[in-house]
Formats: sequence, C-alpha cells, structure tokens
Amino acid sequence: MASPVTIHTAFVITNLLFLILACHFSLFLAFDASPDHDHSQCKVDGEILQYGIELPTCMIPKRAPNPPSSDNALVPWDRNYVNLYTPVPNGGLVVRSDGMHADLRITSVNQSFGHFQSKYRFVFGYFSMNLKLIPKQSAGVIATYYFSSPETKPKESDRHDEVDFEFLGNTSGNPITLQTNVYLNGVGNREQHHYLSFDPTAAFHKYSLLWNQHLIIWFVDDKVIRVFHNKTQEVGVPFPVNRPMAVQCSIWDGSDWATQGGRVKLNYTYAPFVAQYEGFGGVDGCQACPATPSTACDTADLSPCSDAKKYWFLEQQELTAKQIKQLQKHQKKYIVYDYCTDAKRFPEGMPEECRYNKFY
Ligand SMILES: *[C@@H]1O[C@H](CO)[C@@H](O)[C@H](O)[C@H]1NC(C)=O
Ligand SMILES: *[C@@H]1O[C@H](CO)[C@@H](O)[C@H](O)[C@H]1NC(C)=O
Ligand SMILES: *[C@@H]1O[C@H](CO)[C@@H](O)[C@H](O)[C@H]1NC(C)=O
Ligand SMILES: *[C@@H]1O[C@H](CO)[C@@H](O)[C@H](O)[C@H]1NC(C)=O
Repeated sequence: MASPVTIHTAFVITNLLFLILACHFSLFLAFDASPDHDHSQCKVDGEILQYGIELPTCMIPKRAPNPPSSDNALVPWDRNYVNLYTPVPNGGLVVRSDGMHADLRITSVNQSFGHFQSKYRFVFGYFSMNLKLIPKQSAGVIATYYFSSPETKPKESDRHDEVDFEFLGNTSGNPITLQTNVYLNGVGNREQHHYLSFDPTAAFHKYSLLWNQHLIIWFVDDKVIRVFHNKTQEVGVPFPVNRPMAVQCSIWDGSDWATQGGRVKLNYTYAPFVAQYEGFGGVDGCQACPATPSTACDTADLSPCSDAKKYWFLEQQELTAKQIKQLQKHQKKYIVYDYCTDAKRFPEGMPEECRYNKFY
C-alpha cells in the first residue's frame, strides 16, 4: 500500500508537471478548459485585467476545491462539536437520540439562546453544515453558522476575526434572508443580504466555507454566493490568517434589527423556534488549538497551517470560470443588499476590497 507521503509526492509532482506544461504550451495551444482546470484570473504587473474564460494570455489552471464526498456526512454531533455555553438541560440545544441531528431552540422569553461550536479552532480549511430553518413565523429570530475567534471586551479594543452565515427570520410567508459578513481585526460592516433560490425551511441545504490564505468563498449547495479575496498586499485590507477561528452555530433573539430593520420583533407566542442542523462531518481544517478557553491559542505555532498539503489550501487561489458564472448569476438575481453598493454609507468612497469581490 502506498504511504500517504508517496501519494502526496506523486500528486505534487503531477501537479507541477501539469503547471509547467500548461505554462509552456498555453500560448500556442488551445487550452482544454475541463471543469477541473478553468483558467480564471489573470494578473499582469499585479493588475487584474479580466475575469473569465475569454482571456487569451493567462492560462494557469486553478482547481476548484474537490471536497471529499463525505464532507457533510451524517456523523455524530459530538465527533466534532461541543456545547460550551448553553446551560443544560434548558432546551436551547437538543442533540437528538440518533446523535446525528442537533436542534437549536428558543422556547420562551427566559430561554432565548442556544449555541454549540467545534472542539477545535482552525486556521484555514473547508467547512460545511446542513441547515433547515425555522418554518412560518420566525421574525426577530437569528440562526447562524459562523466562524469566529474569541471576542474580547471592551468592544473598542476587540480584534477578533469572524466570517458569517446568519439567517434572519421573517414573518410568515416572507423570505428568510441570509446575511453574510466578515469581521477583520474586530471591524465588520461588510454585510450582504441574500435571498435564496429555494425555501430554506422546507428541507436541509448545505452551506459551506472555503478559507485559505488567498480567499474566502461562501457556498450554498456547492455554488458560490460570495467571495472575499486576500488583498492585504494590494490595498492593505486585513485578512484572517493568525487568529484561529472556531466553527459556531447559534440561535438568538435579534428583535433589535433582524427583521425589516427591527420593525418586527420576536413574538414568543410562536415559540418554540427550532433551527435544525446536521452533517457534522464537514470540519476539515488546520487544527490550531482547542476551542475551550485557554491560552493554548496564544502560543500555537501556526506555520504548519500555511504548509498544509490539503486540497483546501493548495488548489484554489482564485474563482474558476465556472464559479465566476455562478457568482455573477447570484449577485444579479439574489443579492438584496450589498455594502459595496451602499454609497450613502460610505460617502468617503467604497471600501478598498469591494472592487475585487464584485462581479456584476
Ligand atoms: C420568566 O422568568 C421570570 C422570572 O423568573 C418569571 O416570572 C416568568 O414567569 C418566566 N416566564 C416564562 C414564560 O417562563
Ligand atoms: C494574506 O493576508 C495576510 C495577512 O493580512 C498577509 O500577511 C499575506 O501576505 C496574504 N497572503 C497572500 C497570499 O496574499
Ligand atoms: C422579510 O420580508 C419582507 C417582505 O417581503 C422583506 O422586505 C424583507 O427583506 C424580509 N427579510 C427581513 C430580514 O426582513
Ligand atoms: C403575538 O402573536 C399573537 C398571536 O398572533 C398576537 O395575538 C399578539 O398580538 C402578538 N404580539 C405582538 C407583540 O405582536
């Protein structure tokens, strides 16, 4: 049996050969744009020229992540996740008897919070979760799947990093909105609101995140809905690379702002509000330290995380042409708010990262 090292070496050599060949011949040959090897972004002297398959000169293959088919497998909740903050037993977190499903619940005005998180904190990786959201009346309720390093108090000195999927509940018959956001060094304000092409309360759907040193991609059912590029070198916008983040899931009362800007509050008459989670196998990242509060993370050696020979780290520096099409379609049709088009909010000019992440 070939050892993982042998397989890995063979893989790297094959890839290198492919790169060299592709670079040499791309100018002369029509490039075979197989789905695995879409050429995507071209840079000349550090300038982005164009996205998409039309571009003739730059044909470096960049592979889309090829996640293991088991990424959102139904594995027991306690394999990867732990309850650190929800008092037990109060009904905020219910792991069902088969061990493979977990519910986060708001049951009354006195029990309006539920949470669980990964056992470890990560730097880079590919993560996924299946969620089925609260049906009918869910105004004011926020259910989340997000990634975060610990927040510190006071707020002014907080420097945490965070990447969000947050589902904003709605009144019966109205669409649940997915809010995505990024906090860097404690600063957020990068909201996008997305509608979904399906009813997220009717069935489980897969939500996933790819995070490496080059980019962060949000996926819904394996299709790209948002990208955030690492443009630290170009425009100085920070990027999460050195604060390990835990995978987190929560439910809470967001009456203040969640639904129609806070006009519709959570109404406990409709409790319990139940968000369902499954697919706890989707945790594959560079494990930096335990999630339990400890100082282990302050001293963790993160260098192995940038050297990991993993599909989620190596294989994607840019969106593929196929993913760019997905994102264009999504951005045109389903984005109902984008901070990058909110000129009123940024009278001094749009945030620097915007031009790198917009495709419409
Ligand atoms: C919530 O807690 C308060 C104070 O303990 C109690 O008076 C009230 O009845 C509780 N409400 C519900 C709905 O359980
Ligand atoms: C990504 O961001 C980090 C931190 O902001 C920076 O140090 C690093 O050079 C960036 N990496 C790439 C590949 O641009
Ligand atoms: C709720 O439904 C209303 C009416 O369709 C819509 O305007 C709003 O964006 C929806 N979402 C939230 C979070 O309020
Ligand atoms: C909550 O819902 C009930 C049942 O529809 C309704 O009677 C009540 O007025 C609502 N409460 C608020 C504060 O809107």
